[in-house]
Amino acid sequence: MKDHIREYWESQARAHGAGHEASWGDNFAIALEIDTIAKHLADGDTVLDVGCANGFSAFRQLELHRLERLVGVDFAAGMVEAARAAKTARGLDDRVEFRVGDVRALDFPDDAFDVVYTTRVLINLPTWREQVKGIGECLRVTRPGGTVILSEGFWEPLQLLNAMRALARLAPLVEHDFNRYLKKQSLEELLATLGLEYSVDEFSSVYYLGSRFLRELVTDPSAYPGYSNPVNELFYNIEREYSCGGFGIQQAYVIRKGRS
Ligand SMILES: C[S@@+](CC[C@H](N)C(=O)[O-])C[C@H]1O[C@@H](n2cnc3c(N)ncnc32)[C@H](O)[C@@H]1O
Repeated sequence: MKDHIREYWESQARAHGAGHEASWGDNFAIALEIDTIAKHLADGDTVLDVGCANGFSAFRQLELHRLERLVGVDFAAGMVEAARAAKTARGLDDRVEFRVGDVRALDFPDDAFDVVYTTRVLINLPTWREQVKGIGECLRVTRPGGTVILSEGFWEPLQLLNAMRALARLAPLVEHDFNRYLKKQSLEELLATLGLEYSVDEFSSVYYLGSRFLRELVTDPSAYPGYSNPVNELFYNIEREYSCGGFGIQQAYVIRKGRS
């Protein structure tokens, strides 16, 4: 059977090469996401970027940190090819590697990495059961005492934003057909069952409130197609100073794998 989600990502790789648009057009949200992940990496870490796409964010992390090793895996072969081409263009050595792989069955031994992160990847899995499998794999390949960061899209903030939009008679936002946002409640119940400590980094709340709600109240949306516009930039800059409110669809769960 054809996997339409993989097909979608293969077509994104063909269309966008090394650009951030291969993974998402929202350059401001991507920048916030990169800064959030960066806070949890340190020089000398071994890092696995699961669902690395063309490596856009991975290369940024490599500029910010002197990592011991960074491996990126993605199930779309075209994305991995684009990441390898970008690696060659940057003259990076064997400490950086990109492979074809699936988050549901990671081809690494247990406890292999200091930090494992996903950015908008689990949401591509069609069911919560498969998402749990992916989370289990990320935990398995992280060393005891290491960190798993799940930077994903969540359902509850989508409802909150849509409640605000309804008050202003704006059409609801909907998930793209290749996405299944995680439920914060389900993830938190899972982490509690597994006895794992975690914190939540709400890195996009003010930005989402501005770019997905307030912007449409104060401007004609057709005046600013796409994401790169002055209103979004304004809320991006506020977000970098201060965030709260629970409106950010993108949030990062930072999970500590206990030393059992
Ligand atoms: C939103 S993009 C990720 C962006 C990328 N991490 C970055 O920061 O530039 C989602 C990526 O996840 C990959 N993906 C989706 N499902 C996957 C799976 N089951 N296993 C591995 N990769 C997957 C897609 O091919 C796509 O490249």
